[in-house]
Amino acid sequence: MAAALTLLCMCCQAAGAPVATSNGNGLASTNAADVDNKLCASSLDQGCQDYNLPVNDWAHSSLSVVVLGASGDLAKKKIFPALFALYYEGLLPPNVQFFGYARTKMTDVAFREMIAGTLTCRVNSRERCLEAQETFLQRCFYQAGSYDQQQGFISLNTRMSGQEASMPRANRIFFLSIPPNVFLDATGNAADCASSRTGWTRVIVEKPFGRDSDSSKELAEGLGRHLSEEQIYRIDHYLGKELIENLTVLRFSNSVFEPLWSRQHIRNVQVIFSENFGTEGRGGYFDRYGIIRDVIQNHLLQILALFAMEQPVSLDAEDIRSEKVKVLRSMKVVSAEDVVVGQYRAKGNLPAYLDDSTVPVGSLTETFAAVAMFIDNARWDGVPFLLKAGKALHKRYAEIRVQFRHVPGNLYRSKQGSNLDAHTNELVIRIQPKEAIYLKINNKVPGLGLRLDTSRLDLQYQSAFASNDLPDAYERLLLDVVNGDKRLFIRADELEAAWNLYTPLLHALEKNKVAPELYPYGSRGPVGAHYLAAKYGVRWGDLNEDDDE
Ligand code: NDP
Ligand code: BG6
Repeated sequence: MAAALTLLCMCCQAAGAPVATSNGNGLASTNAADVDNKLCASSLDQGCQDYNLPVNDWAHSSLSVVVLGASGDLAKKKIFPALFALYYEGLLPPNVQFFGYARTKMTDVAFREMIAGTLTCRVNSRERCLEAQETFLQRCFYQAGSYDQQQGFISLNTRMSGQEASMPRANRIFFLSIPPNVFLDATGNAADCASSRTGWTRVIVEKPFGRDSDSSKELAEGLGRHLSEEQIYRIDHYLGKELIENLTVLRFSNSVFEPLWSRQHIRNVQVIFSENFGTEGRGGYFDRYGIIRDVIQNHLLQILALFAMEQPVSLDAEDIRSEKVKVLRSMKVVSAEDVVVGQYRAKGNLPAYLDDSTVPVGSLTETFAAVAMFIDNARWDGVPFLLKAGKALHKRYAEIRVQFRHVPGNLYRSKQGSNLDAHTNELVIRIQPKEAIYLKINNKVPGLGLRLDTSRLDLQYQSAFASNDLPDAYERLLLDVVNGDKRLFIRADELEAAWNLYTPLLHALEKNKVAPELYPYGSRGPVGAHYLAAKYGVRWGDLNEDDDE
């Protein structure tokens, strides 16, 4: 703490800014501004009502959003388009500005040109879209600087202060869209030299949050030297997806589902992530992590926690996150016998993982994995939760499949044939694409005979909600940060629990140099995944061709 304070003072003197801070550690406390929340600024009233936003004193505060690593892929692909969408919808405060920061030298004009190419209106013919893009770009500024030196952050601070001068209070959000090796330097310098002295400062951290329990702890301690837990927003963009947000609504606001949500009725649960492209160009990052760290330990495990948790006391962030931690802590540590790893090989013109020039020769990193997990509590004892994720597979989709138990003493067994699995009731929550929720039921084929077939009770989002206009996950999550809503962000103890489940397995795979099973690019993945499921009497639900649409 003392060291941080000294740095802060050096930085403030250099920046010519006042040294006094509201909580003595160089960072304005989040609560100071939150307690003072008053009314929606008038231009945001409509948005507040539609989106049920907490009120903020935006009539007297400005907002600066700083993207560190603004020259990078994520900033261009996701962050600036999401910020623009929020701006266009009128969900950001009237006095908002956006700053890009990275080492690449660029003028404001060049920066605006770079992001202009990425801005779209979700629905092409939206009114005044071009005009809104123009005014958005006028609010974008760029500061070049390194992550490990204070000078760039001091200049950034000066420029931000200039833009914020018309309001008594300045709130700031920093988005760390940079590789993990510079997280700590950048956070330290941003906190010491560019955090707000009149309002709150919040920092969004992108995964990877370490590679295992120890490195995650080290990162947490490093961030903790500069930030309080309230200021840290650990993003898992899967939590911002529409169907994942809906998961708790589906469970806890419908009386038909919750009574079925246990080992009494559910035979197994599958969470599946499939991409039809490989690492192409991202192999350098990916090879250090692999699909278990990249997708399973975070995105799929988060979905599983939301799926399996007990009902929280309220919708408050802390209540929800406490239930997630509880269920994560009730899970069995993943055992090496319950995992299958794969790596894609070339097929025709499609390259092998090892053909990616950014991947080290002979790498054993897994691009596919299937895992069986178990929850040791009264609700879920003995129910297999199967998680599967892979790159370079046949299709891109993500879904949750809940397979229910067979009907005991089934009167119609003779009409259904011997393959009971084909007649399993299954609830499918398709996260993407073509978002949908459907329940497969057995139904009489209409006519004079008595023939049974599987049909669907089907909620297709595109037709049901007459809209292609689902917000991107980053839009929802950025808006939550603006509003200080942490429901969809990962708490430190959640992260720790998640790493505890996977660290022994990850270490064992590395130590034993486990060779992944090869599967052809564009296939459904290695056959080992079927054996793993079969070991628990399960058939992967996504193998049914009738589920393709
Ligand atoms: P990039 O590799 O594009 O890096 C972002 C920026 O960081 C670059 O433009 C570069 O800017 C700077 N940078 C790159 N390498 C280094 C380095 N070795 N040392 C210092 N600075 C460096 O990353 P992405 O934009 O793809 O992702 C940003 C963060 O988000 C990463 O942590 C990534 O793991 C995570 N992430 C990304 C996703 C994606 O879809 N892209 C998805 C989920 C998480 P400059 O040289 O100008 O400073
Ligand atoms: C990221 C992973 O977190 O999620 C990528 O690092 C993956 O490897 C991506 O491609 C998938 O996200 P989405 O939203 O496109 O399914």
